Amino acid sequence: MKNFYVTTPIFYPSDNLHIGHTYTTVAADVLTKFKKKQGYDTFFVTGTDEHGQKIQEAATKIGKTPKEYVDVIVDSIKDLWKTLEIDYDKFVRTTDADHEKVVQDIFVKLYEKGEIYKDKYEGNYCTPCESFWSDTQLVDGNCPDCGRPVEKKEEESYFFRLSKYTDKILELYKENPEFLRPESRMKEMINNFLNEGLEDLSVTRSSMDWGVKVPFDEKHTIYVWIDALSCYITGLGYGMENDENFKKYWPGNVHLVGKEIVRFHTIIWPAILMALDLPLPKEVFAHGWILFENDKMSKSKGNVIYPEPIIELFGIDAFKYFLMREFSFGQDGSFSKKKFIQRLNSDLANDLGNLVSRTTAMIDKYNDGIVVEIKTTDNLDSDLENMAVNTLEKVEAFIEKYDFSNALEEIWKLIRRTNKYIDETEPWVLAKDNQDRLDTVLYNLAETIRIVSVLIDPFMNKTSIEIRRQLGIELESNWEDGKKWGILEVGTKVNRGDAIFPRLDMEKDLLRLEEANEKLVKERIESKQPVKQEELITIDEFDKMKLKTAEIISCENHPNADKLYVFKLKLGNETRQIVSGIKKWYKPEDLIGKKVIVITNLQPIKLRGVDSNGMILAAEDDEENLTLLSTLEDIKSGSTIS
Ligand code: MSP
Repeated sequence: MKNFYVTTPIFYPSDNLHIGHTYTTVAADVLTKFKKKQGYDTFFVTGTDEHGQKIQEAATKIGKTPKEYVDVIVDSIKDLWKTLEIDYDKFVRTTDADHEKVVQDIFVKLYEKGEIYKDKYEGNYCTPCESFWSDTQLVDGNCPDCGRPVEKKEEESYFFRLSKYTDKILELYKENPEFLRPESRMKEMINNFLNEGLEDLSVTRSSMDWGVKVPFDEKHTIYVWIDALSCYITGLGYGMENDENFKKYWPGNVHLVGKEIVRFHTIIWPAILMALDLPLPKEVFAHGWILFENDKMSKSKGNVIYPEPIIELFGIDAFKYFLMREFSFGQDGSFSKKKFIQRLNSDLANDLGNLVSRTTAMIDKYNDGIVVEIKTTDNLDSDLENMAVNTLEKVEAFIEKYDFSNALEEIWKLIRRTNKYIDETEPWVLAKDNQDRLDTVLYNLAETIRIVSVLIDPFMNKTSIEIRRQLGIELESNWEDGKKWGILEVGTKVNRGDAIFPRLDMEKDLLRLEEANEKLVKERIESKQPVKQEELITIDEFDKMKLKTAEIISCENHPNADKLYVFKLKLGNETRQIVSGIKKWYKPEDLIGKKVIVITNLQPIKLRGVDSNGMILAAEDDEENLTLLSTLEDIKSGSTIS
């Protein structure tokens, strides 16, 4: 079986991901699903790029350790991929111990081979990009990647001999024009970096702590990009005990990346691989950015759009469809909520949704829901059939070029043609006096929709399944069946269902989407406010608190308070009365005879006129579930807890 290995960049878990970030991942997922359908043995790696000054600073700002800080965001990223049904095979966190170990081994290997040496660095540092730049590389005195101001820095550093790879990389581009696509990006690399000759690259930082240490010189931390790029091979087990996947899938087929990180992937990464004597990936494809009204999306600009509200309101398939259809993968595109709703209405509700509901409704009405055999043929039928069986190859050709938008357009041409076939054949007229022709038309419609369900599967799996369910097909879609005619069995009973994409109301739904997104942006801004450090106590302060085990002897309703119980508890030889507010969670009969934990030296108080002498301990989560604390094994009441 042929292998196919695809990666997305690994994301900075410095904040929640917005729709721009989901772009590469959705595309990589569509590509993987598509290749799988074509019979490839696929492997898909994504992950998070957790080290570096940026993360360290963001964590410090809110009083967390970098690990505590990233853990929460990494969970949210994994949740998002789950919601979007992204089927990655390996999620690499650069803080994974096995990844860190291999990054160190790679560094040592390069050092021992003389590819890395120690020297002093003086340069212009861009903190957001974590990159040093020479004076000539600056653009108007600013970082050439992001345009932000840089600061002068001098430090002892290890250097990778990148300069010796200038010609080798130029040769690589020359011999493999498909190594970097679109073509314009290759020209950029040649003109902006390679023609003037590469400089050696500083690959350690001594001023930054949050990262992988150089094992033989621990005051140096390995440059985040060496750490991050390595995930493409550590994700396959390179340098680890089990490196089966590495042997099987490397060299990778394609790294999908955003346009601003092309230099790292097509100059630094191949040079590192050459230095390690490893084969190079076959291709790097650089996609454009999703902008918001031609501006870069960011939380601080207040124009960020999150995927969650879109998915919640309109479903994952509508979201994925829009991402893959609206934008040309290699170019920038502007997101607009209005365009999103327009496209949903035109392409999904009108074109696809209507085709499915009109067809199933007519089969229901005219043929009792049963698909009947073809009885006649004419040119209209053969035109439709030809177009239907030829679409798959066109889709394949576009996907080969990562042109997801035109691949979908090909499928929609077929959908629109099929809707036209209904208008041309007028089944409602045939129903009056031409049952044979009607049966034929209905079969052709159902069979074309079956083909459509196969073709959209890698893009919109849920919709594909729903269409097949409505058509009465139980089998999973098989890619090869997308270019065959006559697979739908005569006698199949259709299941009319709800509209697969209900029509949206431009005004109301736009407002709903805007409100939901704004609410989430606000929530996320607020949740990132600095949190107070937890106050620490000394062991002496803890010792002041006296905790004991106690057996519940009785539990009565409080005479004056609905929510309280009055307990009698046995603590060794002593009996105590404690008032507690746990009535909502326990019945008295569940508690009598149970051993719990109480604080015995709380100042006594009267609660609604009843004396309370201590407190029973309980744990409560954020969903108001509560449970009383007890000991693991039974122990005498009155035992001391320390
Ligand atoms: N951590 C590095 C990648 C290391 S790969 C070895 C990084 N992370 S990132 O989180 O900033 O970006 C991850 C990807 O998201 C990049 O490919 C970037 O281009 C992409 N996008 C971020 N914003 C985007 C848009 N608005 N539109 C499209 N893609 C965007 O870079």
